[in-house]
Amino acid sequence: MSTQDQLKQQAAERAVDFIPENEYIGIGTGSTANFFIHALGQSGKRIKGAVATSHKTAELMAEYGIPQIQPNEVSKLAVYIDGADEVSPLLQMIKGGGGAHLAEKIVANLAERFICIADESKYVRRLGRFPLPVEVVPMARSMVARKLVQLGGRPELRIGFKSLNGNEILDVYDLDLSQPIAMEDTVNSLLGVVENGLFAHRPADLLILAKKDGVQLLEAHV
Ligand code: A5P
Repeated sequence: MSTQDQLKQQAAERAVDFIPENEYIGIGTGSTANFFIHALGQSGKRIKGAVATSHKTAELMAEYGIPQIQPNEVSKLAVYIDGADEVSPLLQMIKGGGGAHLAEKIVANLAERFICIADESKYVRRLGRFPLPVEVVPMARSMVARKLVQLGGRPELRIGFKSLNGNEILDVYDLDLSQPIAMEDTVNSLLGVVENGLFAHRPADLLILAKKDGVQLLEAHV
């Protein structure tokens, strides 16, 4: 296993300590979230059920007999656990490297607490090196791409990829994300955009960051 994967696993294993028993939770998508499902499954901890943000997450949950519930069946979740592509000191994030950010944002907003789990490579002073994933309705793809260029971005179509909802993803390089809340709103206001991967309105509440010299717990700070 690579060092990065070992760190992802360490962050994921630590997250199990923060899972309350007999509650509903949400589980994100990606390799770090996968490590979390393995750790939760092996922990013997009993939860009432979990909302999955992708087919892959649901499949892995099923392997461990973690009951799956649908977002519409609950009014809130005790906690949401997920990785990120980038996370800032304010615990704002870029997500959607796996194209699941629409479901992830919905489930994160149902949760009372969002715990981000990450290896140290994901922690950045400023968001924006990782391209911003923007889910678009296919017929609006070119129109949205032109608007993103006007905003200073360089959109690239994610070739051969369809989201859970049958939409396409534009990965947008070079956008100025120094005002993440404003940019999250601006991109989402473009006709044809379904959702973008900036998690600025809904940052994480806690970051479990695995570094080579140990696991750190970080709350948002300026
Ligand atoms: C999925 O759409 C993303 O938001 C993931 O949370 C993100 O890509 C992190 O992935 P890894 O845990 O595989 O690095």
